[in-house]
Amino acid sequence: MEFSTDELKQVMIRLRREIAKVIIGQDDVITCALIAVFTNNHALIEGVPGIAKTLLVRTLAKVLGCESARVQFTPDLMPSDITGTNVFNFQNNEFNLVKGPIFTDFLLADEINRAPAKTQAALLQAMQERCVTIDRQTLQLDANFTVFATQNPIEYEGTYPLPEAQKDRFMLKISMDCPGREDELMLASRMLGDDSPEQRLAGGHVETVIAADQLAEFRHTLNNITVRQELLEYLVDIVRATRTHETVLVGASPRATQALLQAGRAHAAIAERDFVSPDDIKTLAPAVLGHRLILRPEYEIEGHTIAESIGSILQEVAVPR
Ligand SMILES: Nc1ncnc2c1ncn2[C@@H]1O[C@H](COP(=O)(O)OP(=O)(O)OP(=O)(O)O)[C@@H](O)[C@H]1O
Ligand SMILES: [Mg+2]
Repeated sequence: MEFSTDELKQVMIRLRREIAKVIIGQDDVITCALIAVFTNNHALIEGVPGIAKTLLVRTLAKVLGCESARVQFTPDLMPSDITGTNVFNFQNNEFNLVKGPIFTDFLLADEINRAPAKTQAALLQAMQERCVTIDRQTLQLDANFTVFATQNPIEYEGTYPLPEAQKDRFMLKISMDCPGREDELMLASRMLGDDSPEQRLAGGHVETVIAADQLAEFRHTLNNITVRQELLEYLVDIVRATRTHETVLVGASPRATQALLQAGRAHAAIAERDFVSPDDIKTLAPAVLGHRLILRPEYEIEGHTIAESIGSILQEVAVPR
């Protein structure tokens, strides 16, 4: 069954309403997380501890009727700790496959930069290919498989930052900031009674809006969100401008072009529109492009930021009418 764009809009409204029962504020973060899920892509999440990263992924899973799992990345984590392994069963004298945590819908890969390259690569390859090979047996991952990877921004010691090539596989980077005073006050007052965000999620407060197997059909509906030719040119020109901008050493890949287009469509749907506007592209450009760019060292030393480079690119590229 194919859903209409109207039905898609209704679903987006209901999803936001249900998520807001648990997560206070963080509207842009929730938008970006929904974009990743509805385009079947993966996201990096950056934010200090205790800012509801885990709670966000668990809440998303609940409202979308999906499963979630969390893996804490550590320096001794092996690829098979994520994918799974064959274990000898002495009762029937044969090997049995024990699937790893990667066999889920939404995987929270916590502190991905604390695991060495080999383990990171196992996850990142699975993200791209949507399957894993365990002892020569290839297994498909879940159709809704989405990775939310966090990077620990505080302890740099003993960490293995993701190589740029690996970061490119994440559609966008979600930056979570501390809530504003009003939101934090709301959190505090909910804690007074038996009304904490966790209790809300565990209790009967939150409804599942769509079933996991309907997600693919809603994803398909995104194709009906119109993108004018001028807009297509606009977003291509933005990505191309990252490759020639004087402050940028390494610009964004063609994969970034695909990501910006898909993200723009999902953003329009979340904003309850059935066409992509220049604002969709402008709003998303920092999240989609930021983590893929490398500044020229001379600009970095001067304290110039990637956000500033993207800001200046958005000013330079002509906006279609
Ligand atoms: N915006 C928010 N809405 C609701 N609860 C919040 C919010 N921000 C923080 N919290 C609360 O803060 C606590 C920490 O949340 P959570 O465990 O999800 O953080 P985290 O970002 O995953 O932390 P860590 O990096 O340490 O794993 C939870 O009890 C959660 O309810
Ligand atoms: Mg956490």
